[in-house]
Amino acid sequence: MSTDELIENGHNYIMNTYKYNPIVIEKGEGCYLYDTEGNKYLDLVSGIAVNSLGYKNEEFINNLCNQLKKLNHCSNLYYNQPQIELAEKLIQNSSFDKVFFCNSGAESIEAALKLCRKYGKKVHNKDCYEIITMKNSFHGRTFGAISTTGQDKYHKDLEPLLPGIVYAEYNNFESVTQMVSEKTCAIFIEPIQGEGGIKPANLEFLEKVRDLCTKKDIVLVFDEVQCGIGRTGKLFAYQHYNISPDIICLAKGLGNGFPIGAMMAIEKVAQAFQPGDHASTFGGNPLAATSGKTVLDALLNKNLLKNAETQGNYLKDNLLQLKEKFPIIKEIRGIGLMLGVELSITTENILKKCTENGLLLVGAGPNVLRFVPPLIIKKEEIDKAISIISEILEEIQ
Ligand SMILES: Cc1ncc(COP(=O)(O)O)c(C=O)c1O
Repeated sequence: MSTDELIENGHNYIMNTYKYNPIVIEKGEGCYLYDTEGNKYLDLVSGIAVNSLGYKNEEFINNLCNQLKKLNHCSNLYYNQPQIELAEKLIQNSSFDKVFFCNSGAESIEAALKLCRKYGKKVHNKDCYEIITMKNSFHGRTFGAISTTGQDKYHKDLEPLLPGIVYAEYNNFESVTQMVSEKTCAIFIEPIQGEGGIKPANLEFLEKVRDLCTKKDIVLVFDEVQCGIGRTGKLFAYQHYNISPDIICLAKGLGNGFPIGAMMAIEKVAQAFQPGDHASTFGGNPLAATSGKTVLDALLNKNLLKNAETQGNYLKDNLLQLKEKFPIIKEIRGIGLMLGVELSITTENILKKCTENGLLLVGAGPNVLRFVPPLIIKKEEIDKAISIISEILEEIQ
């Protein structure tokens, strides 16, 4: 089938929820993708902060193939070895005690919402169910997660949303305290807002919220679906802030493209779940868990965290140099390989030109260019990306 026919069939048969670029990706290698027309793209999107190990990673392929030859799925009626090993690795390298596995970021948020409400009602009182979340946040598309998302544009025509969720100003402690009451069971925060435009939380804000949660026994939840699992140069973004939440939500980068999500909690909070309280057919399936184990091994034992930090700093320096040269660049934000370039114009035209010139980038909101490449990216690839962007900015200014 020709590319045009594929695109036409995609248009005819796939539900109209995405704005697809008119290309069909066929394969990848390292940090490069190839379409069905044979065009090559340097990929700084990595499936939206997912493909940490890039494409065609030998270990990933071998581990998954070997697992597939042994066991594809067995449900959570029984233990499976990869799930237990992944759980152990996650717990031993974090400040949490227990993990629940699911299949996506939104599901990890759902699991956290349920655990927080169970905790509030069991430990405090039956009316302790209110969730404080941040304006401009993004937590996913299921009803609980979209209700927790603090952006009106995602709520349109879906109301009534999940009740008991209130929205505070991000990085504004006063605004949070004004919403706290006996009813508050949890506070949800992205340490770096992703879809909201790559906006890191202030240290002081997080420290104060942590103190408040500790004093009032409110569950502090960090959504690290996008910024976790090595993206910022540390395994978890909270480790940059020297505080730890009570619950963390993970997905994206954990599976390198194999769908997996995880919600981890400290023991005291995790205890609010009992058998039967929550479940997922595919959660922690042997293939997904093998993917997670392979990613964690690469991050912890193969210098990938260091690479994310080093190349992240190198990319940021280069972007800051572009800012000196091009006044349409207003600000560079982010940590490690999760960076945003805020422009004084919308990004649409620039993103299109990047694709035409063999560079894949994605926006974060209307006027922020987002950089979330595979964590294996090398200096030469960053140089190449910067040179393409620089030429495009030269042309449009
Ligand atoms: C911070 C954050 N939380 C949750 C989600 C939802 O994840 P998923 O699309 O896997 O459901 C996303 C997705 O972009 C995200 O960036």
